[in-house]
Amino acid sequence: MAALTHFYQAFQPSHYNVYLDINRETKQFGGTTTITGTATTTNIAIHQKDLQIGSVKADGKDVPFTMDVPADAIRITLPESGEVTLEITYTAPLTDTMMGIYPSYYQVDGVKKQIIGTQFETNFARQAFPSIDEPEAKATFDLAIKFDEQPGETVLSNMPENHVDNGVHYFDTTVRMSTYLVAFAFGDLQSKQTKTKSGVQVGVFGTKAHPAKDLDFALDIAKRSIEFFEDFYQTPYPLPHSWQLALPDFSAGAMENWGLVTYREAYLLLDPDNTSMSVKQVVATVIAHELAHQWFGDLVTMKWWDDLWLNESFANMMEYVAIDAIEPDWHIWETFQTSDVPAALQRDATDGVQSVHVQVENPAEIDALFDAAIVYAKGARMLVMVRALIGDDALRAGLKAYFAAHQFGNATGADLWAALGEASGMDIGGIMQSWLEQPGYPVVNAAIVDGQLTLSQEQFFIGDHHASTRKWQIPLNSNAPDAPAIMTEKTLTLGDYAALREAIGAPFRLNIGHNSHFIVKYDDTLMADILDHVDELDAIDQLQLLQAQRLLADGNQISYADVVPLLPHFTGSHANVVIDGWVTVATNLKKFVTADSPEEAHLRQLFDQLSAEQMHRLGLTPKAGESNDDQLSRPDILSAALYGQNADTIAAVHDLFVAHRSDLTTLPADIRGLVIANEVKHFGSAELFDQLLAAYRDSSNASFKGNLVGALTGTPDQALIARLIDAFEDADTIKPQDLRGWFRGVLANDAGQQAAWDWIRNDWAWLEKTVGGDMEFTTYITVIAGIFKTPERLQEFKTFFEPKLQTPGLTREIKMDINVISSRVALIEAEKAAVNAAVADFIQ
Ligand code: BES
Ligand code: ZN
Repeated sequence: MAALTHFYQAFQPSHYNVYLDINRETKQFGGTTTITGTATTTNIAIHQKDLQIGSVKADGKDVPFTMDVPADAIRITLPESGEVTLEITYTAPLTDTMMGIYPSYYQVDGVKKQIIGTQFETNFARQAFPSIDEPEAKATFDLAIKFDEQPGETVLSNMPENHVDNGVHYFDTTVRMSTYLVAFAFGDLQSKQTKTKSGVQVGVFGTKAHPAKDLDFALDIAKRSIEFFEDFYQTPYPLPHSWQLALPDFSAGAMENWGLVTYREAYLLLDPDNTSMSVKQVVATVIAHELAHQWFGDLVTMKWWDDLWLNESFANMMEYVAIDAIEPDWHIWETFQTSDVPAALQRDATDGVQSVHVQVENPAEIDALFDAAIVYAKGARMLVMVRALIGDDALRAGLKAYFAAHQFGNATGADLWAALGEASGMDIGGIMQSWLEQPGYPVVNAAIVDGQLTLSQEQFFIGDHHASTRKWQIPLNSNAPDAPAIMTEKTLTLGDYAALREAIGAPFRLNIGHNSHFIVKYDDTLMADILDHVDELDAIDQLQLLQAQRLLADGNQISYADVVPLLPHFTGSHANVVIDGWVTVATNLKKFVTADSPEEAHLRQLFDQLSAEQMHRLGLTPKAGESNDDQLSRPDILSAALYGQNADTIAAVHDLFVAHRSDLTTLPADIRGLVIANEVKHFGSAELFDQLLAAYRDSSNASFKGNLVGALTGTPDQALIARLIDAFEDADTIKPQDLRGWFRGVLANDAGQQAAWDWIRNDWAWLEKTVGGDMEFTTYITVIAGIFKTPERLQEFKTFFEPKLQTPGLTREIKMDINVISSRVALIEAEKAAVNAAVADFIQ
């Protein structure tokens, strides 16, 4: 295919007047858009999608135009090139795709309502108004909005409202910005507002289905995040306000529209009096992520979509930098280590994975290439690696220069590396090249060979793979005094091991602090030395050890049977990251047993044994004044104890349920999901099921609803599972945006797997029609591949998905997932006897 030329090359817009008249009743809108700009030729193209164009005028005169539907274009012939003002009139439908201008549906006290909102990234502004819908085509915008307005309704946009005339709401002219960041919304909203130290008006908006106090947490985090970024970036927030708006229907998680950030309700609103620590952390990091974009992404924007990773990886790192600064007691980087890091290390170990930076021309390809574990998690890890290399002073100086040079304009990854390189005096671009352009990551083998400590790097894989000769520039972060800062070669000798061990005075280690994207395989001597001193390691380094052993076992480099005896080294720890580490390893053993087998009974006993001490220490319910670690660990430990079928724990959890039966939202939020799930599993009935499903339908508390999904999908009752599957396609019960969680829950339930698998195969066409346009559509396949583990399921997976290999956007996912399942099947086949023997050996 010939390279697609960007429409921006032929026409550079400088200003838009966008007038929209939106009717919720008829689900239609009409618009008039005028675009002033410079045409460099007489044949120009303007983006549009699904717009019914009435007329096109240039400088007041009708001009000929044709519609080019495949190119999303209106092709216009101008009398002459140069400065011109186009005026385009059109009508279009409002569709329920959660893209462009779309309605969100909700209920207050049984009354059905809707709010209108927008989602324009990556290329949906063209569904709202004709435009050069490319990130480089920055312009100023005057928005004017009319709608079937009811008394008391609120209208929001990027800029404050200027005046209302004849029912038309006029907004202040925006600063120079990209089309994908334009946004507006209206409906019957409530809000809470405050001001930052520097005078920025901050607000949180949501429907009136929520108690007003549910807006407070977000308001506080948003205000303090903006204050943090103004300081960290040394660049003022450039708009008068920063609105955060929760929309009941939302395809992604949140969207950084400049001045009007939109969120899923679950990622903005929460009950300040009873919400789990982990949900608070997620909400805070999502807000900080979007606010990080207000500068990195909005003020300075990638020139083209191939650098979308840069936007997202950067915001993903900054969400942790910001929250760590404003809530230091949370130790939020630990959450990075227990969530993003393993996600990146797992996904990036499968052959066929994409690199962080991928060349892309057609924006439709962007959504298909959007692999969160790579673009967000691995990308953030790359930047964390850079930050660790250059330090915060150089990072801040570099960013300040980058914003100053490119504000209200565009930049590329190379521009950022240049700014950071300048500030640090290091060749950042050179070092990053090997990480960004190559898929995968290395395992560094550390071994004593003839008395010499030697290091060698090779690509790490889980599952079948092609031979790889890839090489990375690895920041080693070793405690050996003479180790180089960066390993550039395939192999490296650090010298006489005995002398080195003496000089270090501690076990030899690499990647201390776990900021570089590689894992280490220590030989037996080095590993034994580390385990002898494991208590002296920081919690993060203990977690790192556990993660690496698990990955090496999944990658067939060591045996899971040898990992089992390591666990007691860690089960005494009170650090949440260590607890998370060993619970994750133990959970990975579940794949080696079948439901209700004697082997599973042994494994349950192992869980009970490993969790007993901490369960006793932590107790079931939160203690006043307890540490964050304890608060975060309780659900991990309780979940292990419940899998361990500890009779006392099951009974105590049941009692807790009974005590809160009349209002389950009052159960302590950290363990609420586990308590309800325990009830469904062990004391379930059709009545309870009805009660919980009704609560799900009626509640506006997103984290409570999440608890109910987990509980309901775990039912052992086939008849109830059939009822759940019936609800999958009932949008009044399960919104399409939430369906994947339900599907995953039933598929992971041994009693429900067949039904969920039959459903998705039978109703694939419905699913494709309903969420097929969604960027996260492919993750339905990822979910299946995360669960299947038998040769029969592998065969069924292939039978169903191989014929879809040619479907645009699905090819890579299907190929990778076949590999993921088949490597798991092979691993189980090869190891299950040894693993189950090791478990049996171990339990008392
Ligand atoms: N800009 C993205 C959302 C997005 C990306 C929309 C690509 C369309 C195409 C936003 O900043 C984001 O990253 N949202 C995340 C949530 C986040 C806090 C990790 C998402 O939606 O998953
Ligand atoms: Zn983002």
